[in-house]
Amino acid sequence: MKSSYYDESVNLGLQFQKENKSWSGADTLKYQKQIKGLVDRFQATTILDYGCGKGMQYSTPCIDGKTFDEWLGVTVYKYDPCVPEFSIPPPANMKFDGVICSQVLHTIPDDDMHWVCEQITSYSTKFVFIGINFKKPAKRKKHIYDKRYFKQPRTREYFKSFFKNSKNIFWWWKDRMFYSEWIDDQISNKWLDVPEIWDPTYHFVETTI
Ligand SMILES: C[S@@+](CC[C@H](N)C(=O)[O-])C[C@H]1O[C@@H](n2cnc3c(N)ncnc32)[C@H](O)[C@@H]1O
Repeated sequence: MKSSYYDESVNLGLQFQKENKSWSGADTLKYQKQIKGLVDRFQATTILDYGCGKGMQYSTPCIDGKTFDEWLGVTVYKYDPCVPEFSIPPPANMKFDGVICSQVLHTIPDDDMHWVCEQITSYSTKFVFIGINFKKPAKRKKHIYDKRYFKQPRTREYFKSFFKNSKNIFWWWKDRMFYSEWIDDQISNKWLDVPEIWDPTYHFVETTI
């Protein structure tokens, strides 16, 4: 059930979307290898992009002269409550082979994490991919939300706790270097949350808001 702050958080996001070029959807492409790996592994043809941003990744050729959906070879349902043209969620009984959710969970207030994460998993039949950026926040980065509704430290454990009973959830923390066996490692629980090899572009910082 929605918290009393949820609609306000969406309105703040809507405002931010209107006034800024960021939240375009381009960050999804930072996980292109991971998402392609999952699409191929699960032979997915339909994807829900939950919190897709302005959708530039689906309107502008960005990989090998193709849009992201063309490159993946899938049909994508774009959902983002803060972008008017994508603000209608799929009907509750609609299913997709995969759900992707890139850099979105940190925008969800504490009291809404539970139902949002349930909603995300409810749409998927084969896999859910969640990408989260653990890069140190830029010093002057504005927090657009009221911090009273984001009291929980946004750690890897915190995010994972909402998916404890769900199967086929695939995580990617951006400070980790990509390696090709990562899908197998997540399936067999070999995958470590804190990587042995770091992507030097990122820092190990758990809190993102
Ligand atoms: C950092 S951007 C990421 C956009 C895109 N997924 C990407 O990776 O490039 C965060 C996105 O979360 C969306 N967002 C904010 N509140 C949301 C909510 N309650 N449910 C779903 N998406 C939300 C914003 O509109 C924004 O597009």
